[in-house]
Amino acid sequence: MKFTVAASLLALGTASAFVPPQAYGRTSDVVRSMAATETSVYTFEKSEEIFAEAQTLMPGGVSSPVRAFKSVGGNPVVFDKVKGAYAWDVDGNKYIDYVGTWGPAILGHADDDVLEAVKATMEKGTSFGAPCPLENELAKMVIDAVPSVEMVRFTNSGTEACMGMIRLVRAYTDREKVIKFEGCYHGHADSFLVQAGSGVATLGLPDSPGVPASATKATFCAEYNNLESVKAILEDNKDEIAAIILEPVVGNSGFIKPDKAFLEGLRELATDNGALLVFDEVMTGFRVAYGGAQEYFGVTPDVTTMAGTLSGNPLAMTAGIETMKKLKKDGVYEELERKSQKLVDGICAAAKEHGHAICGGTAGGMFGWYFTEGPVKNFQEATKADGEKFGKWHRMMLERGVYLAPSMYEAGFMSLSHTDEDIEKTIAIADEVLSKL
Ligand SMILES: Cc1ncc(COP(=O)(O)O)c(C=O)c1O
Repeated sequence: MKFTVAASLLALGTASAFVPPQAYGRTSDVVRSMAATETSVYTFEKSEEIFAEAQTLMPGGVSSPVRAFKSVGGNPVVFDKVKGAYAWDVDGNKYIDYVGTWGPAILGHADDDVLEAVKATMEKGTSFGAPCPLENELAKMVIDAVPSVEMVRFTNSGTEACMGMIRLVRAYTDREKVIKFEGCYHGHADSFLVQAGSGVATLGLPDSPGVPASATKATFCAEYNNLESVKAILEDNKDEIAAIILEPVVGNSGFIKPDKAFLEGLRELATDNGALLVFDEVMTGFRVAYGGAQEYFGVTPDVTTMAGTLSGNPLAMTAGIETMKKLKKDGVYEELERKSQKLVDGICAAAKEHGHAICGGTAGGMFGWYFTEGPVKNFQEATKADGEKFGKWHRMMLERGVYLAPSMYEAGFMSLSHTDEDIEKTIAIADEVLSKL
């Protein structure tokens, strides 16, 4: 059975092993000369005003926990508009944006061709609640792109995709128990909220209050990049595990790359134990490669989940189709990886030069670094990174025009719109910030 729940990222709605700091060269001359001029520091009056009101209207003032900046300190900036590699806040400050609406903006924000196609579709109405031919068109593109996928079910969100997926694997295997991994996030359905990475880790909660123990008692947690921990659970629960579910590159504990042998081992263990292997490619789908992490690592799961697109509505389908057409062009993923690597190498070299422990890595258009010697192979190792330093670093980068994910437990996302100049400027700003940290 090869099935995908949900599908399509895309504009409505994502590697190399960690390298120890010694492996990076010195900060380049261009970076040093750019860093010689100090960057001006932003102020945020309007953002503060709007966020103060938001806190009286919405819990935490936000519609998703990580946006509240709890783990980095200070208040979030309120966005006004986005275009290409940039975001502008309501105070008029411009940022080089490495969050990219948490991954989907892989072409850059508000791509002209995507917008044009969406506008033309909008003229026909924004939602039908009935089949539309665009669904077939996008489903065919997804099936063609992603190695494991034979059929597609579109959903509204990654959470719904994962909820559908867990019911599917239980129904198919007639088993209840599932294995997930510490630090992997699969949306906010009850059964997944065990050791679930960024949202929970950012708030410093061991697990999520409000989730009944009965909802998670069939969910077992293994350690990422550790096959023995999976074997032990399988042995203790012989013929009872419905599925092994993971982020094939973790983006919800910072950025953690799997060992290829780990993914291959999971494939074998799942097959041998009559369990399904599920890749949650909500972040990695169409981001680390056109065919997602399963193409990148050459390991084929049984079920794949990807980012949601409003139950097949015509606007989301159009955005998906137009984005995928552009992603399919030659050299796109090589370019994304080159840019991600350039950024990570530059930041790591600058950090090292200023005496900071750091390690980082990339996979296609996905990247990350931790303020620790590393390497970071699982969530426990990620927790050893310096969170206080990360908070200061985040605010200082923000004040100088670089928008990074507001949690050390989130990955970064490169787009095709980021230029070499953007990346060099980012490294130069980082160099100045790291010299003061
Ligand atoms: C890997 C993964 N799965 C599932 C989800 C849940 O998606 P959504 O926020 O659209 O519900 C996320 C969201 O960040 C994710 O990163």
